[in-house]
Amino acid sequence: MAEVNLLRNYPKAKRNITHRHEVQDENRAIAREFGEAFFDGERDQGYGGYGYDGRWVPIAKDFVEHWELKPGDRVLDIGAAKGFLVKDLMGVCPGLEAFGIDISDYAVTHCEAEVVGRLHVGSCDRLPFPDDSFDAAISINTVHNLDHEGCVRALREMKRVSPRNNYVQIDSYRTPQEKQNMEDWVLTAITTHDPEGWRALFAEAGYDGDYYWTITE
Ligand SMILES: C[S@@+](CC[C@H](N)C(=O)[O-])C[C@H]1O[C@@H](n2cnc3c(N)ncnc32)[C@H](O)[C@@H]1O
Repeated sequence: MAEVNLLRNYPKAKRNITHRHEVQDENRAIAREFGEAFFDGERDQGYGGYGYDGRWVPIAKDFVEHWELKPGDRVLDIGAAKGFLVKDLMGVCPGLEAFGIDISDYAVTHCEAEVVGRLHVGSCDRLPFPDDSFDAAISINTVHNLDHEGCVRALREMKRVSPRNNYVQIDSYRTPQEKQNMEDWVLTAITTHDPEGWRALFAEAGYDGDYYWTITE
């Protein structure tokens, strides 16, 4: 188990947190449907247009290096959206077998051509895969969309299907200001903790994989 930032090469976004604060209440419910509005609607309701731009390529390389993944290994992205990371994992390591699962029927039916047939619709707390069916599993800013018990179930599910290599990234905060920023910016999170609180939840779930935080500064 290591605190390691495998998203260190993700581009820093410019965020108008003040504006989102003003309009957040009316948009949270829409965002939590994880439909077209969340991915490809107004910026205040989610991504504001989520198209492939290659930003996951360096992150995919970092995952492959971190776990020394090789052709034939099977990797699962839990909360895979349209499959950008799934596509890039296979792009940077030809022969790697990457798959994804996401709660969003919209995202999966608007996925990249390269991942057609590799994405499943389903929830991270009930993974429709056998025990030990993956060499590695990744979940980026997804499990906190469930309540406490759901987070515990999701982390246990991750370890069940991928017992050896796991990574979770979670929106979190270290200061009251960062907590406020996170609450204003992140529309969909239900469970929120500082890193210490998340480590306690990891322990409750028996999660012993790698992890890091997305902090809205
Ligand atoms: C930050 S995005 C992940 C980005 C993704 N790795 C990529 O390559 O673009 C988080 C995703 O979690 C999904 N999600 C939310 N709740 C979920 C749940 N209970 N189970 C599975 N996916 C969920 C959302 O639909 C969203 O696509």
